[in-house]
Amino acid sequence: MAARGLAVVVLAAGQGTRMKSARPKVLHNLAGRPMIGHVLDAAKSLRPAETVVVLAPGMDQVAAAVAPARIAIQKKPLGTADALKSARAALKGFSGDVVVIYGDTPLLAAPTMRNLVKALRRAPTIAVAALGMRSAEPGAYGRLVTDAKGDLLEIVEAEDAGAEQRRIGFCNSGMMAIAGGIVWALLDKIGNDNAKDEFYLTDIVKIARAAGLRAVATEGPAGELLGINTRSELAAAEAAMQRRLRAAAMENGAMLIAPETVHLAWDTRLGRDSVIGPYVVFGPGARVADNAVIRPFCHIEGAAIGKGAVIGPFARLRPGSRIGTEARIGNFVETKNSRLAPGAKANHLTYLGDARVGRDANVGAGTITCNYDGIDKFETVIGPGAFIGSNTALVAPVAIGRGAVVAAGSVITENVAAGDLAVARARQQKIRGWAKSRAKRKKKHAKPAAKAKHG
Ligand code: UD1
Ligand code: MG
Repeated sequence: MAARGLAVVVLAAGQGTRMKSARPKVLHNLAGRPMIGHVLDAAKSLRPAETVVVLAPGMDQVAAAVAPARIAIQKKPLGTADALKSARAALKGFSGDVVVIYGDTPLLAAPTMRNLVKALRRAPTIAVAALGMRSAEPGAYGRLVTDAKGDLLEIVEAEDAGAEQRRIGFCNSGMMAIAGGIVWALLDKIGNDNAKDEFYLTDIVKIARAAGLRAVATEGPAGELLGINTRSELAAAEAAMQRRLRAAAMENGAMLIAPETVHLAWDTRLGRDSVIGPYVVFGPGARVADNAVIRPFCHIEGAAIGKGAVIGPFARLRPGSRIGTEARIGNFVETKNSRLAPGAKANHLTYLGDARVGRDANVGAGTITCNYDGIDKFETVIGPGAFIGSNTALVAPVAIGRGAVVAAGSVITENVAAGDLAVARARQQKIRGWAKSRAKRKKKHAKPAAKAKHG
C-alpha cells in the first residue's frame, strides 16, 4: 500500500469573500492557528511524499504560512478541476495516488482521510474514491449517486441536479482520492459545460467510468467536513474544535472543572492531575505539568508551568514564562520572558518581565521590574531565597543577591549583594502633635461649610 506513494493537494485558491475580511480565508485562526495549518496537519498523518497547496496569484501571506509545503498557483478561478490541474507541474515526475482536500475544512481528522485512501486502494480497477457525508440539509452540496453495489456512478452538482437527484442525502464533502498515473489524463477530459461554466473536479467520476474504471464513495462524519465560508461557520468550527481539544485533555488526565468555559489552543499540553479552573484561556505554546493548578480567569500563552505550581486566579503568563516546580503566581501578576525557579513566589499585583527569580525567593505584592526604558529591554536577577518587599521597583539591569532583602517601597537602581538589606526610599519624618493642630483647623472650617450648603 505505502509503495504506491501519495501526494496531497490542498485547494485554497478561493478568495473567501463571504468572510468580509482583508485576511485570506484560510489564514483565519482556529484554536490559535490558521485553519490551513489544521488541514496540513491532518494531511501529514497520511505521510505524503508530496504536499502541494494551490493558491491564487498574490496570496503570498498564505504561501509563507504553509511553508515548507509546495505552492502551485491557479491563474484564474476556473473550478476545482482546474485548481487540481494547477498542481500538475509541482508534481512532475510523481506517479503515486493524489488526495485532494480543501483548505477551508479544518476539522477533517486523520482516520477519515485514511479510510478514503484505503477505499481507493481496495481494488486495482478503482480510479476514484470520493468522501461523502449524510446531511439533513444537503442544499448546495454536490450529490453522490451510487448504485446498489455501492459503486459511485456520478457526482452531480446541486445547480445541475434534477429534482430527484436533489433529494439524495449523500453529499460530496469535496475530499477525493485519485489513482496515480491516471489522474492527469482524466482531468484533461473534464469540460465546463455546466450551470457555472466551471471545470468541475467532480466530473472525474463519470469520466473514469467511461474509461472502464470504477469509482467508490466512503462516508465520513458530517461534523468533520464542515467547510468554512462565513464568520458564523468559523465560530461553529471553533466550538467543535474546542470540544475536541477539551475531551482529549481530559482523556489524558487533566481535570477541567468547567470544561465549557476553558479555551484551549491547538497545542496546549496539560499534565496528569493538573487542575484547570473555570474561565482559563490558553494561547499557543502553553505547557502545564502534572499536578499544577490553574485557578480561574488566567490567560496563559507561550508559558511552561512546572509540576505542582499554582497559578492565579487572574494571572497573565506571557511568552517565555517558565514557572518552576511548586512555584506560585498569584492574582494580578503578569510574567513575560521570565523564569521562576522551584518554590519561588510572586503572589500579588506584580510584573515580572525579563527576570530570573531564584529558588524560594519571595517577590512581595506590587513589585515591578522596570525592564524597558522605551528603547531596550533589560534583565532583573533575583537570587535564591531573596525577599523583595512590597511595592518595590527594580530598575533593570539590576541583580539582587542570594538571600538579600529589599525594603518595601524601594526603588532599586543598583545591585544588592548577597545577604544585604537595601532600603531605597525617603526616610520617614515624625512631627509631634501635628494631627491635633489639624483637628483644630478642621473644626474651625466646619461651620461656614454647613452654611454654604443651605445658602
Ligand atoms: C465543491 C464541490 C461540491 C461539494 C462542495 C463541498 C465541485 C465542482 N464541487 O463545491 O460537490 O459538495 O465543494 O464543499 O468540486 N477552489 C480553487 N479554485 C477554483 C475553485 C475552487 O482552489 O477555481 C477551491 C476553493 O478555495 C475551496 C475548494 O476548492 O477550497 C472548493 O471550492 P468551492 O467553490 O467552495 O466549491 P463548491 O461550489 O462549494
Ligand atoms: Mg464551498
